[in-house]
Amino acid sequence: MPVISKPFNFPPAHELKRSDITTIAILGEGNFGLVEKAALKNLGGQAGAVEVAVKHLKLEGEAEAKVIFDKELKVASSLEYHPNVITFIGFVTLEDPRLLVFEFAQQGELLKYLKQSKMTGISPDKLVKFTLDVANGMSYLSSKAIIHRDLAARNILVSGDTCKISDFGFSRLGEIYVKMSKDRIPIFWTAPECLVASKAKYNTKTDVWSYGVLMWEIMSLGERPYSSGLKGRIKQYLEGGGRLTKPRGAKITYMQS
Ligand code: ADE
Repeated sequence: MPVISKPFNFPPAHELKRSDITTIAILGEGNFGLVEKAALKNLGGQAGAVEVAVKHLKLEGEAEAKVIFDKELKVASSLEYHPNVITFIGFVTLEDPRLLVFEFAQQGELLKYLKQSKMTGISPDKLVKFTLDVANGMSYLSSKAIIHRDLAARNILVSGDTCKISDFGFSRLGEIYVKMSKDRIPIFWTAPECLVASKAKYNTKTDVWSYGVLMWEIMSLGERPYSSGLKGRIKQYLEGGGRLTKPRGAKITYMQS
């Protein structure tokens, strides 16, 4: 089955027929429900089916899941094709369960990919290429006034040798002051100025902070950033000048400023 890896003649994201979608396997649990691998027929008049990833909205009265679903639908609909952003293919919103349909990334989540590569080995060039892919994708998002707010290796997908940004459930279009419910904040990836009790000010630059942590995840092959003991005091730690330590195995010596 062909995988979508470059732009071809498919129409902009649009309402799809559920009967054109056939589940192949369950991939995992997303922010608002199940994610499945599926086959999609009749895309842009193409013969045969293409592999896609389908996100299901939880049906059991989860109001928050619906809000996240709607935000992701809105943000994803505002995107055109970019090689470093997962392509949004379409949605099912006229019947339950509601679905969002994305390009399928064959190699799956970057975080898992990095952890596996500890066994199989991976070249430093490839790791650097991954950081560049994410930078290109984020540059595109910021050109569209999109703030991701949950940039982390768990939300990046790998397709072939290319990283693609995914999971726009917490993203915002041009909104700068936003309140995240406290248990939702990915504290170790969040810029310290956003670790405040009231309204936090997110912008492209706070995504750049998360990008730095993501680069660290890439170079450390999927380790968890910071020691878990810092959980309740990461803001104080950072404001006191504390930073991520050099990834294990890294040969580069940091320059002192
Ligand atoms: N897991 C979540 N979304 C995915 C996608 N689009 N492709 C592959 N695995 C995924």
